[in-house]
Amino acid sequence: MKVQSTSPIVVVANRLPFCLGTNPETGQLVRKQCAGGLVTAVAPVVVETQGLWVGWSGLHLEDNNVAIPEADPNDQTPTAGLKSNQVLPVNVPKKLFDDYYNGCCNATFWPLFHSMPDRATFQADKWDAYRQMNAEFARLTVEAVKRLSETHPGEVPLVWLHDYHMMLAANTIREKCDELNLPIKMAFFLHIPFPSWDIVRLFPWDDELLQGILGCDSIGFHIEDYCLNFIDCCQRRLGCRVDRQQMLVEHNSRTVSINPLPISIPYERFVQLAEKAPQVVKNNLHEQLLLAVDRLDYTKGLVHRIKAFETLLQKHPEQIEHVTFLQVAVPSRTDVKEYQELKEELDQIIGRINGRFSTPNWSPIRYIYGCVSQDQLAAFYRDASVAVVTPLRDGMNLVAKEFVACQTGEPGVLILSPFAGAGTSMHEALHVNPYETNEFADTIYRALTMPKDERELRMKLLRRREREYDVNFWLRSFLKTVDCLNDDNKSMAPGRLLPMREEDFSEFLGLYVTESSRLALLMDYDGTLAPIAPHPDLAQMPTETRRVLERLAHMPDVNIAIISGRSLENVKSMVGIEGITYAGNHGFEILHPDGTMFMHPIPHEYEVQLEALKQRLEEICIDGAWVESKGTGITFHYREVTGDRVADITARAQQMFKEIGITIHQSHCAYEARPPVTWNKGRASIYILRTLFGLDWCDRVSTIFAGDDKTDEDAMKALQGMAVTFRVTRSQNLRTAAMHRLPSTDAVLTMLKWIERRLGSRVPICNGQRSRTASVSSNGNRSPPRSPSTPHIRSRANSNSEPNKQMMTINDKIYHQYIAKRASPPRSSSTSPPHSPTRSTM
Ligand code: ADP
Ligand code: G6P
Repeated sequence: MKVQSTSPIVVVANRLPFCLGTNPETGQLVRKQCAGGLVTAVAPVVVETQGLWVGWSGLHLEDNNVAIPEADPNDQTPTAGLKSNQVLPVNVPKKLFDDYYNGCCNATFWPLFHSMPDRATFQADKWDAYRQMNAEFARLTVEAVKRLSETHPGEVPLVWLHDYHMMLAANTIREKCDELNLPIKMAFFLHIPFPSWDIVRLFPWDDELLQGILGCDSIGFHIEDYCLNFIDCCQRRLGCRVDRQQMLVEHNSRTVSINPLPISIPYERFVQLAEKAPQVVKNNLHEQLLLAVDRLDYTKGLVHRIKAFETLLQKHPEQIEHVTFLQVAVPSRTDVKEYQELKEELDQIIGRINGRFSTPNWSPIRYIYGCVSQDQLAAFYRDASVAVVTPLRDGMNLVAKEFVACQTGEPGVLILSPFAGAGTSMHEALHVNPYETNEFADTIYRALTMPKDERELRMKLLRRREREYDVNFWLRSFLKTVDCLNDDNKSMAPGRLLPMREEDFSEFLGLYVTESSRLALLMDYDGTLAPIAPHPDLAQMPTETRRVLERLAHMPDVNIAIISGRSLENVKSMVGIEGITYAGNHGFEILHPDGTMFMHPIPHEYEVQLEALKQRLEEICIDGAWVESKGTGITFHYREVTGDRVADITARAQQMFKEIGITIHQSHCAYEARPPVTWNKGRASIYILRTLFGLDWCDRVSTIFAGDDKTDEDAMKALQGMAVTFRVTRSQNLRTAAMHRLPSTDAVLTMLKWIERRLGSRVPICNGQRSRTASVSSNGNRSPPRSPSTPHIRSRANSNSEPNKQMMTINDKIYHQYIAKRASPPRSSSTSPPHSPTRSTM
């Protein structure tokens, strides 16, 4: 039964479903068959839905407009029905393609994803070529979507990205289609394993990669293990919220579904091929054929297998002349050194074994280095007594499935590696670890001598499963995940993660913040506590957030600091809560609740420049742009400038910053001028914590930091390993040092509520008055059990707003001396916090 999709499909894969070659007689371009699971499985549905295929033709054409030839009229392959106008070939300069394909796909992702990291190379320029190539694939995909929107008006095309070559295309496709108002669905399927976090993290740009894949709505891997590995990486590397049960990942306010979709083969087609295929010629009637079919790839374990065969002949000389090993190996990636070396190694070892065991009438190993026709392949599969499918690592392995489908005659035996995806479902095969040569040889012997009834039973069960779960089953299962299956009577609503609940924070903070913890809560204001608004004056903190913060500020052993890019006065008046620390201008000015003030010194020269910049920028305070003065800095806001004026106004502003010699710091639709000193929210955070709790603050407090923009990253980095950090991000793909991502200011409120509930039993501090050093004790324990709570209250010199005159203006050096002199209880050997925050990053 044909599988039908309700949406026209755009398949995007590195290769087109056929290769282009030149007819040596006519010199014309012709299509050549390009065998493989992907093509056989996917091509028919593209033909059926009149979809399109984006990919590389296998040739570097000089002329970009060269016509793709139609299929030969006698072509029987699954791609025969694919017209040339359904194909969008990628054609780029050879060097770029080479860097992407060999330099990155084959040299980095192939070995890494097959858990062979010592073979992998990590080169920034190759990764850049990968980025560029994915952008090119994305460009052509958008062209394809545009075409489909004309030929299939009203239908939502399904873009289906394939394999490790296409891990960065999704977000570009999505952005462009959004811009053009072209609705699409987007899915990704990986044809190779997805390794564990331990391996993925070796890739220096792993966060970019994961976020690239997460650009799709539905992500498919062969087996559940790979899905769980991916989910784990999203949680640990990106700090995403995940649901392992439903296999969902939340990223950029979208829920992405992760699906185990074991690929398979067109079972009936192989049965038919096997029924018609010619007999394989054997040396004698009793000779048993041991078969292996692979691309010549180091992941396939060819050498290990041949060594096991050698051991078999050594241990069982009676098998000499009675068993022949047929290795069919397709040349693959022949430009890559490792593949060339493997070929040499294989040639040598086969030569040595044949030299050692051959007799006048028999050679132990028959070796075909090339592609064989489907008929010939089916004949080998059918007539083999044993198939040895023993990769060191393999996403699925279709050869194992093709072999059982073709076993239409005398039943043979399948030997299978547990390290192939197929190993997780083909239970009746004989499983063997390819690295264990002796046992491997024994398993081959067991297969060669297995009684017929056992062979029959095992093969029957294997065949039954593959018949049922064939490639159509795979395709149907996939289409269901994107709600595109035509004959699906019950449409499957995509799974969703519930909005963030307080319980989620038990997972993030449950072990770190306990009822008796001393807590330091460091928060950014705009975009963290208050939603971003068109004008800073409108960015109000929701009433509920204010109330929870107020109550927290009144709790003993809870210290709150708001660290903002606003001026100190401004953030203080926006928040307006007593008893907390305010830090303005990214921490250049800090005011503690007892009135103690810190100001980082500013070079005089910068102050002069700042004044000049301010005057210049006023010239372009037009069309909604305006300048905010913050004392130690100024911010040029262009959020309200209308679309067509933005480019001109921002270009002029950039020029003014440049001419005056002040570096631009990009903020939310704004350019900021900040003092040219090494002080930032990170340094300020540490300063606040040291001032409040002493040098060993880390041992005595549980620290939480939340922020939403680049400036907050300084604090996330500075606090890495010493605090639990959150980055609020709604829709951006970004690199963050934070441990967790939160989708909105609402989630921040939920966190505050969780904290309040957690610390709920504490008795509030009278009048909310708090001393800057109220919480400092010297017992060297991060969370001392202080019950009942007896807060230490030191009244402020001037309680209501005027800062205390203990103003400190210090430079970095003095600051360090000052810090060093402060009383600091020695670290006891057991000061390591019991549940120090961890986030496995870079
Ligand atoms: P991989 O995708 O790593 O190449 P698979 O086992 O999943 O491994 O798929 C290999 C595909 O290539 C199978 O469909 C198999 O029939 C085909 N194939 C492998 N070797 C040959 C060969 N020598 N000639 C023709 N087809 C081959
Ligand atoms: C594996 C990959 C495919 C790839 C194939 C052949 O099956 O999953 O994406 O096309 O190997 O490799 P090649 O590099 O020749 O395309």
